[in-house]
Amino acid sequence: MTAMTTDRPTAINPDPRISMGEGSLDAQSTTPSAGPLPATQIHQMLRQQWGDALLRRLHGIGRIAANLGTPAYLVGGCVRDFLQNHPMPDIDLAIEGDVRAVAEACSAELSGAQCTYHPHFGTAILRYPDGFQLDLARCRIEHYPAPAALPEVQPAAIQADLIRRDFTINAMAISLDPEKFGEFLDPYGGRTDLQRRLLRVLHPHSFLDDPTRILRGLRFAVRFQLQLEASTRDLLEEALTQNIFARLSGARLWRELKYLLELTDLPAALEELGAWQLWPLLRPTPLEVEPLLAKIRRGQQEIHWFHRHFPDEKLCDAAVLLTILWRDIPWAAEKRLHYWPVTDGRYILNDLHRLSEIPAALAKASHPSAVAQLWESLSLPGILALLAEYPETDTITKSGRYYLLKQRGLTSPLNGKDLQAMGLAPGPQLGKVLRHLHDARLDGAIKDKETARQWLIRQGILPSIQP
Ligand code: CTP
Repeated sequence: MTAMTTDRPTAINPDPRISMGEGSLDAQSTTPSAGPLPATQIHQMLRQQWGDALLRRLHGIGRIAANLGTPAYLVGGCVRDFLQNHPMPDIDLAIEGDVRAVAEACSAELSGAQCTYHPHFGTAILRYPDGFQLDLARCRIEHYPAPAALPEVQPAAIQADLIRRDFTINAMAISLDPEKFGEFLDPYGGRTDLQRRLLRVLHPHSFLDDPTRILRGLRFAVRFQLQLEASTRDLLEEALTQNIFARLSGARLWRELKYLLELTDLPAALEELGAWQLWPLLRPTPLEVEPLLAKIRRGQQEIHWFHRHFPDEKLCDAAVLLTILWRDIPWAAEKRLHYWPVTDGRYILNDLHRLSEIPAALAKASHPSAVAQLWESLSLPGILALLAEYPETDTITKSGRYYLLKQRGLTSPLNGKDLQAMGLAPGPQLGKVLRHLHDARLDGAIKDKETARQWLIRQGILPSIQP
């Protein structure tokens, strides 16, 4: 059993193998511990950073929760981001008691606030009329029945809720209780670690309980320029020696890798991936980061270009980057990739087979319709991954962008119903005619219903007496 359970130590230092930052000088840093942060100061900082309107809302929720005997706290990433004066984060509240009761009371007493309760997760969302929203969750402890298994949860007090978390920097809270509004809870020295730029787990089983924390940690390391604290690095190595990721479901692994691939500073994340010896998670063989970076940056340019021109269309950005990362994988290793639960994963494999052939085929294509057919044989991420291999001014890039902007949305002016109304029988032949009409449209031979009808007559598909 590798769990963080009620019988686990909940003292400030939960395990002597992890040196806790608070109140000491860490071996890795000579930065002294962060000094005290009184409630009055937090109050002032909240007002400065988040503004009076939000502060009033937090006071309102704190009062309602206290009246119900279920204290409320700001918790997790929002406290971390607040301490770093980062732009307004998503706000998470931890409630020491019945979340539903607090959310419903808020919705009844705070003008215009609406709550949605999710019984399955025991969480609630509170939405204000101006679109602002807060997430509420019950304080809990977690018990992991097996390494990498999903945890079983039990209600708990805030102190126990903090120790179940991933890193010291995410295990801080701020009380919203009217009696002690602004009181700062930081039992594991998260604030000192933030100042020293250290990423530190809270207990030695953390990565074994939940290996997704390794990738979360890598993301935090990149986002906030953190270094692994020495004993946390040892625990990472231990978890990798135990091949802990093999126990994680593909879906959970992919979700974390997707977040990683979508980091703005992906080049730094790939550097870190090498330093943390995590390349095997992404591909069977490591890549030289330097030559890869240019392609990644071009891939990101193409992704931005696409979002700029098609703001309403969905694109799995990570699939573009994954296609770039998998481009050179030998087919022998490719079988492994079939097991990836990537959205569009099937398409990525099809693309990997086709990508090398496309440039030569494009050079030979004589008609716009032939060019469009080649682009059509790739998925959207595949197209953008191919464009990333060429400079923005290259003819391939221009051809691909032209296809996306102008050709992809073109349809035949006549549809199946129109053709049947003109006397053509339903069946595979009708499909072929529609395909020819589509090509004729791409090649500029037709532009509307009338020119399409005349074209069908010229092709001998419709008799010339047709009205
Ligand atoms: N958490 C955890 N272990 C995980 C996932 C989450 O301990 N595997 C805890 C952390 O305390 C974290 C909080 O849940 O701060 C909220 O998680 P999440 O919203 O995923 O991340 P944030 O820390 O808020 O960071 P981000 O800015 O990326 O949303």
